[in-house]
Amino acid sequence: MCGIVGYLGQKNSKEILLGGLKELEYRGYDSAGIAVLQDGKFESFKAIGKLINLEEKTKNFVTDKFSIGIGHTRWATHGKPTELNAHPHIGSESYVVHNGIIENYAALKTELLKDGITFLSQTDTEVIVHQFEKNLKITKSSFEAFKKTISQLEGAYAILLVTKGKEKTIFFAKNGSPMLVGVNAENEKYFASSDTPLIGHCTDVNYFEDGDYGYVTPDELAIFSKDGKKQEPKFTKLSTNKLSAQKDGFRFFMEKEIYEQVDVIADTLLGRLHDNEVLFDELDPTLFEGINEIKLCACGTSYHSALTATYLFERYSKIKTSIEVASEFRYRSPIMSKDTLFVVISQSGETADTLETLKMAKAAGLKTLVICNVDNSSMVRLADACILTRAGVEKGVASTKAFATQVTVFWMLSLYLAKKNKALSNEEIARQITLLREVPASVKVSDDMHERIKRLSKRYLHGHGFFFIGRDVFYPLALEGALKLKEISYLHAEGYPSGEMKHGPIALADPELFTIALLPQHLLYDKAKSNVEELSARDSTICAISAVEFDKADDFIAINKCKDYMLEFFEMMVAVQVLSLEISVRLGNDVDMPRNLAKSVTVE
Ligand code: M6R
Repeated sequence: MCGIVGYLGQKNSKEILLGGLKELEYRGYDSAGIAVLQDGKFESFKAIGKLINLEEKTKNFVTDKFSIGIGHTRWATHGKPTELNAHPHIGSESYVVHNGIIENYAALKTELLKDGITFLSQTDTEVIVHQFEKNLKITKSSFEAFKKTISQLEGAYAILLVTKGKEKTIFFAKNGSPMLVGVNAENEKYFASSDTPLIGHCTDVNYFEDGDYGYVTPDELAIFSKDGKKQEPKFTKLSTNKLSAQKDGFRFFMEKEIYEQVDVIADTLLGRLHDNEVLFDELDPTLFEGINEIKLCACGTSYHSALTATYLFERYSKIKTSIEVASEFRYRSPIMSKDTLFVVISQSGETADTLETLKMAKAAGLKTLVICNVDNSSMVRLADACILTRAGVEKGVASTKAFATQVTVFWMLSLYLAKKNKALSNEEIARQITLLREVPASVKVSDDMHERIKRLSKRYLHGHGFFFIGRDVFYPLALEGALKLKEISYLHAEGYPSGEMKHGPIALADPELFTIALLPQHLLYDKAKSNVEELSARDSTICAISAVEFDKADDFIAINKCKDYMLEFFEMMVAVQVLSLEISVRLGNDVDMPRNLAKSVTVE
């Protein structure tokens, strides 16, 4: 995920900006850049790859007097990771850095192109600096021009902008993407997209609220809220512990990542949802020409999200879809026909088995698509087309937000294909798009739910095993719930289709067998309920997760009432993630780095 830093003061701004970007490295990035205004002159440097490349480029650049500077690490969303696409973006006399996505950038860009502006990059960000300079010509006041620019932007952003006429000012705006400003007794100002770059430099920080914008000078921190009213800064003391700052106060990265799903899913959706259609700018529409079948291939959690997609693609897009575990597919001499679109799914884009199947599909002449979280990874470079999931760096070995964003992409893709295949009416697609917009809210972890799961987790620490059961898309979710629990609790857990239990596993049922039953109100509720009753009758300990009270359950985790089963899916996903987390915590395990596991499995 992109990172932002900014600095205003007397000290060595180059070192401060590069040091700040280093502190944000843990978020992941594929290029970086800085721009510094000193002695009335701008200097800007950009480099792809690691920060060391930027350090090398700036080694002869000296900043030894008052200056203002902005810096950025970029995680590509619009446009490839190239130097031209790296931030800061330049106008004629201004520079901007930006996190987030400007949803209406295409409309703004069209107007700016008509005005004769030349664009250097493929990014959405570049419109900000040109729009600012266009407004500056009219308003003649940099602050008014900045204010007007912000009012013209739609989407999510944290923005820093510097301009030549204002050599002691940094303009800022925040909406939907995090940013804070720090101050100290030396009248310096520091900006960043998270706490860590500010630790050791600032004593007090102000976290901007959505809609805040304004400017800093050596003597002033002017913050205006959405409605244009000037605000007093709300300073809080800055933490001094970097690791805990990286975890944003959560106990574990996995916990932070579960809570972060609200924001990252919003990023996944950004710019892709329209009134009655889903758009993937990154896909060439000819990709689906001549395609009669989709084959999905992945490992682990990514396999589970792909299994969810098989239900959605056949149900909504009316396209034949099959799925394979990558490590099986690669050795079983599969028959591959050219009317099949081969889709690999991977958080890392580096998983050896999945990568190998992609190579096989390419060698067989199939069209290929990768759904991936890491731009420029091996799979992204190899596949014909790519959809990035935009989950940001996932540090917990047990995947959470990667799964959530993958399923979100698959739901969107099923509607994209439904439109193409005329498989759903425009009204139905519009209805589902409205539901998609509700996904971020449905993954919000409520204090009540977390507290309840924390309390009941103490009953699930022993016993001889767990069955997570569900039907339809809740079967892959059951598999994912069981995988999460196994990975971090080291307890035996299986995911099973609810209707299959009576074909064998029910023989295991007794009070020491824990059944985690996924009971969606809006999909096969009665069928799934009967299956759980069969287990309850055999004295299995039942923990039901549902929006509907279930009297045969020993424990009950209530999710919010939803309008659709897919929203119930996301609500339950959070519940099973938190349940695994809390069981693991009680068992005293290393939640973020479970034994025997690696984050990226680059060997067979
Ligand atoms: O990076 P990938 O999505 O290709 O990784 C696949 C699996 O190794 C991964 O999902 C693994 O199962 C996780 N530890 C699950 O939490």
